[in-house]
Amino acid sequence: MTESPPLAGVIGNPISHSKSPLLFDYWLRRLDLSGHYVPMHVERSDLKTVLEALPKAGFRGVNVTVPFKEEVLGIADLATDRAAIIGAANTLIFRADGRIHADNTDGYGFIENIRNAEPEWTAVDGPSAVLGAGGAARAVVSTLLEAGAPEVRIANRTRARAERLKSDFGIRVTVWDWTQAGVMMEGAKTVINTTSLGMVGKGPLKLSLDELPESAVVNDIVYAPVETELLKRARSRGCRVVDGLGMLLYQALPGFERWFGHRPDVDDDLRNAVLAGW
Ligand code: ATR
Repeated sequence: MTESPPLAGVIGNPISHSKSPLLFDYWLRRLDLSGHYVPMHVERSDLKTVLEALPKAGFRGVNVTVPFKEEVLGIADLATDRAAIIGAANTLIFRADGRIHADNTDGYGFIENIRNAEPEWTAVDGPSAVLGAGGAARAVVSTLLEAGAPEVRIANRTRARAERLKSDFGIRVTVWDWTQAGVMMEGAKTVINTTSLGMVGKGPLKLSLDELPESAVVNDIVYAPVETELLKRARSRGCRVVDGLGMLLYQALPGFERWFGHRPDVDDDLRNAVLAGW
């Protein structure tokens, strides 16, 4: 009897916008592997049933996207520390013993992206300034702290959400008023936009960069467009900039490696293939 090729996929609602199938299919082809990666539109009321059934159909795991990233934590049998601290999972591993293991690779994707684009960069160099306090910010803030950032400044439109991050992540976090986001740039070594502002179809990110040091590395997790206004403006001040597409690519890597048994490359060919597929 021949064993069926490995299966994995992504669940969400809606799912048609997901770039993950494009990315996984590219890697499967490039590495000449047999296997399939399936986009799955799932209704919330069916989520648990679907997750329990997929391993029985030969799936080794799934990525999870909006709106299920929080809910799957309650369905999984185990969670990594990083998924638990972020309060959301984007990668589920279906283990051989039948248990579902939840992980969150957004923080990994975020930091690998910066480290690969700017090999000299380290989080320990000085304060990081984070715009936003949503799910993506939780992944970014926890990862910066783990990487040794001496201070992580957060400004969010809804200040209470930033305060919640401070109470969850401790004294190295400082909260700034949204109206003071420009002042927060003073002396920052790293700046990260985790809000949806600047994305195609969303409002502009109105932020004064007058205080932003030229030595700063500026990263936007928005990747549509790839070169956001924030990155353009930061670049013209002389800052090094890192776009958000890499985070999307790197966050997919741990799942691919686990499910298909090979570690793929993140390189310009992949970036171009993903951009051409939009
Ligand atoms: P994600 O999980 O992708 O981070 P989210 O939890 O909805 O998504 O968070 C979106 C972030 O963008 C939040 O920080 C949000 O600010 P609020 O907490 O005040 O909602 C921010 N954001 C979205 N639209 C915004 C706007 N028009 N002005 C300022 N911030 C905005």
